[in-house]
Amino acid sequence: MPDSKDSASSVKAPTDPYSTLNSERRSRALVLFLSLMLPVIAAIVVYHLDSFDAAPMPLHELSQPPEPALLRNDRMLLGAELLGVGKFQGPEDIVYDSRSEVIYTGSGDGWIKRVWLNESASDTVVENWVRTGGRPLGLALGLNTEVIVADAYKGLLNISRDGAIELLADGAEDLKFKLTDDVDVAEDGMIYFTDASHKYSLNEVRQDLFEGRPYGRLISFDPVSKRTEVLLSDLYFANGIAVSPDQDYLVFCETTMRRCRKYYIKGIKKGNVEKFMDNLPGMPDNIRYDGEGHYWIALGTENTLFWDLAFKYPLVRKTAAIIERLTGRRVSTEKNGGVLAVDMDGKPVAQYQDVELNLVSTGIKIKNYLYCGSVFYPYIIRLNLDQHAAQARS
Ligand SMILES: *[C@@H]1O[C@H](CO)[C@@H](O)[C@H](O)[C@H]1NC(C)=O
Ligand SMILES: *[C@@H]1O[C@H](CO)[C@@H](O)[C@H](O)[C@H]1NC(C)=O
Repeated sequence: MPDSKDSASSVKAPTDPYSTLNSERRSRALVLFLSLMLPVIAAIVVYHLDSFDAAPMPLHELSQPPEPALLRNDRMLLGAELLGVGKFQGPEDIVYDSRSEVIYTGSGDGWIKRVWLNESASDTVVENWVRTGGRPLGLALGLNTEVIVADAYKGLLNISRDGAIELLADGAEDLKFKLTDDVDVAEDGMIYFTDASHKYSLNEVRQDLFEGRPYGRLISFDPVSKRTEVLLSDLYFANGIAVSPDQDYLVFCETTMRRCRKYYIKGIKKGNVEKFMDNLPGMPDNIRYDGEGHYWIALGTENTLFWDLAFKYPLVRKTAAIIERLTGRRVSTEKNGGVLAVDMDGKPVAQYQDVELNLVSTGIKIKNYLYCGSVFYPYIIRLNLDQHAAQARS
């Protein structure tokens, strides 16, 4: 049994050549092990020293699979036209003035653009109208044809017909708005809007999503008394908002919770919050009522595996936050963005999306067209709904 003899002699004689070989091998293995483990150890140390604190999210409210829309167009870009290519930097929201037949949209270059639509996409006329100096997001028409703007950096603005800018509100209850996001105006002139976060500004959106705490608020502004009132706080990235056609309630979207809820502004339920839709098939952004019984909810992305895991595990969100901060790059890819049309009861009716689309931020139906805005595309997307309507799956 040469093996047992060898090992026995190696204990007695440390200079045995076999033993030297073994210890060389052992130290090489150790070096290899350390060089593999050091980055892991470093990452663990960085993770623990980093003060970013991702919170657990209310998972029980996120656990059901989304209800699918029966009518679908999953490749909406194939039939779409691109309007005003190069004239926008992320036309985030779109509002239509039917009297003058123009649309207004806020662009990442700080301009609110006025757009004259035309049957022929190449005859779209885009004009730089007013520059807010911030980042105009949500838009709504006021009662005196003024444009009310939720500007991410400036707050709630009133832009008069001749282009004068007036700041209506930039904070409430001793907390400044950090990310004024969307706005709608009721028939009585009351202005309802959201501040997505009072902690993180627009360029820190990802940190807000990753932290997973509800820093959003739903707020009203009374144009007569000039009073700003917080209607709801502790919302999960309060985003799109739309007054219901009967003026009884608001529907507002909470992006990170993938849901939309109702807030009653009239009647015996005034002040109450109710479910409108839970478990959306993606992360909701702006919402618009089309005057024909449907809300159109923009979905920045479908529910990806990354976001599913991120919602469940704060560790995933904290790790992603650190990596994005250190590398300046997104760890997750959004895909299958689009628009979901739902009925008055929050039941999905039709979904328009495309694998190539992400960060779609608004969908608005004007006549027989669907117009989509986004966070960064340099154009408005238009789809002829007569020719490219969502179809039942066979
Ligand atoms: C569309 O553009 C053409 C060419 O510029 C113009 O003649 C026509 O009046 C426009 N149509 C509308 C509805 O603005
Ligand atoms: C916005 O400004 C215009 C022009 O001053 C004014 O007529 C309008 O009432 C203002 N709207 C609000 C909501 O303050």
